Amino acid sequence: MPHSGSLATDAAALEQFAADVKYYLSLAPPQLPSRYFYDDLGSALFDTICRLPWYTITRAETRLLAAHGADIFRCALAVTDIIELGPGSGEKLKILLAGLPRASGASRAAHLVDVSPAALASAAQTIGVLPDVHVVTHQATYDAGLREAASAVAGRTLVAFLGSNIGNFDAPGAAAFLQNVRACLAEGDALLLGVDLVKPERRLLLAYDDPLGVTAAFNKNLLLRINRELGAGIDLDGFSHRAVWNGAQSRVEMHLVARSDQSIRIPRAQVDIHLQAGDVIWTESSYKYGPEKVKSLLESCGFRPTAQWIDRDDDFALTMAEAL
Ligand code: TRP
Repeated sequence: MPHSGSLATDAAALEQFAADVKYYLSLAPPQLPSRYFYDDLGSALFDTICRLPWYTITRAETRLLAAHGADIFRCALAVTDIIELGPGSGEKLKILLAGLPRASGASRAAHLVDVSPAALASAAQTIGVLPDVHVVTHQATYDAGLREAASAVAGRTLVAFLGSNIGNFDAPGAAAFLQNVRACLAEGDALLLGVDLVKPERRLLLAYDDPLGVTAAFNKNLLLRINRELGAGIDLDGFSHRAVWNGAQSRVEMHLVARSDQSIRIPRAQVDIHLQAGDVIWTESSYKYGPEKVKSLLESCGFRPTAQWIDRDDDFALTMAEAL
């Protein structure tokens, strides 16, 4: 679970939101930037998605972390510091930390990086119950927060990037992200990457378009947020949620489809666009990988894969890699 969120309350954040919305909606097809899914309501809806029977990522990853905690730290010896990018509620990090050996004398630290203060507060509270773990929060984007956290750690570091959030980058974005992680680490540091694997289309579509309509609500909340924060009056009933499997690109695409002709006027973002029935706003992509593809991606970004654990029931992989 990547985030739980707060509103873009301060002026600079609101201005950034407006500028991002304006830019992304000007693309063809129009898009909306997915990082804005996670305001308070969006984060609550995402937490609910993670409990749906059709969305298996969170449970599969939690099972792997619980089963292989000790193996993870056998691959990455002498780790003292963990940096998690996007800790969500902190539950997965708590399970991971349970496997972190207590080296005599050495202190252990957990660095939490998230843009959302609400996510950081909840994760810090979850982790705070563990004995002898020093919790440090970094309210920042992944890149800036990682740089900050990496310069604050004293010993061997493990970076955790879980929840298949790597799947929300396109191929060049994923490589650039991992290269940046590598650049922030020292030789011998480690990366733990959770990635959802390619599976039958039917299961992928149920995961991203569930029969209870929670995912539809999560997607449409982006429009609600634009209405509330940027002064727009978009008709939420004028759009349907749609998930499409794009096999050629190996990704699930999340769309908002105009059910009839729609005008979108967003005063605070100077946006005035018209959509025809059937036109699409593309809000998110979730790329799915094969296990070997994960390893080759890591190898191309300055890491050596050292272990991989796969949950065959839900087709999910946790991969450990060492910074070269
Ligand atoms: N990182 C999550 C994923 O790709 C985000 C997500 C889950 C999502 N369900 C969604 C994003 C529905 C948009 C719409 O699995």
